[in-house]
Amino acid sequence: MIQNTKLTDSQYRKLSKIVYDTSGVVLNEKKYRLLVARLSKRMRITRITNASDYIDRLGRDEVEFAEFIDATTTNHTFFFRENRHCEYLVKTLDAALPLRIWSAASSSGEEAYSIAIQLLENNFSFTINASDISDSMLDQGRAAVYHKDKVKNVPKFMLHAYFQKGKKDWVDHVRVKPEVRQLVAFQKFNLLSDTPSDIYDVIFCRNVMIYFDKRTRQKVVDRLCRALKPGGLFFVGMAEGLHGLDHDLVSVLPSGYRKKTGVL
Ligand SMILES: C[S@@+](CC[C@H](N)C(=O)[O-])C[C@H]1O[C@@H](n2cnc3c(N)ncnc32)[C@H](O)[C@@H]1O
Repeated sequence: MIQNTKLTDSQYRKLSKIVYDTSGVVLNEKKYRLLVARLSKRMRITRITNASDYIDRLGRDEVEFAEFIDATTTNHTFFFRENRHCEYLVKTLDAALPLRIWSAASSSGEEAYSIAIQLLENNFSFTINASDISDSMLDQGRAAVYHKDKVKNVPKFMLHAYFQKGKKDWVDHVRVKPEVRQLVAFQKFNLLSDTPSDIYDVIFCRNVMIYFDKRTRQKVVDRLCRALKPGGLFFVGMAEGLHGLDHDLVSVLPSGYRKKTGVL
């Protein structure tokens, strides 16, 4: 059944419009196979055998709708990814001042915990909100259990200090220690939603805007900038950048920005 799932042009357009309208993720023709693979998985789980019935189901079943959107997200991430941004925080911010940090599009939490352990190591006081559109990723973040492959870039001494080793069936896994977990709160948040004003000192929104078109990127940047305090730091993925977008940010390092204070 999986291999045989085929979509008419109209079904493909309907499904990619649902994804675009809900998450901003663009699934153009090049992503046909990806969409079909993920749709097939949901059809197998829901035991629906044709795409047309599945599309009807999406129209009347909120839970399946959320599962479908979740299934269309790309969640790849790992500890200490693009760590220059976090090193910049440690180097330039005053550890005496409490920080409120947002890992927007946190996937399964590796980004948020990477920031947390490095700030703890340098005696910062802080809280981190980690958010994503995917419920399954948020659950993984809360569980904080990771395969050893995901922590390859974590320096050995930090691995010992901030992770518990798995035993028996979990010998290939580690778990973030409770003292780190308690500093990271996971919450569902769609980047297309409204944000409050001026509450974060630092926002990470990395490796998600590559899936958006320019219109959505502009909307997301506007909203995240609103949530950032004047003088606050904003990081996007190294392959992203804010080229061609309007914003109140000045570049401080590759893919790293500071919100203007009004004086600049
Ligand atoms: C590749 S991961 C990025 C993880 C991490 N920030 C990093 O740089 O490694 C992209 C994440 O963006 C999330 N995402 C996609 N569209 C979103 C939206 N509209 N609102 C919130 N999260 C979204 C996906 O669920 C996915 O977990």
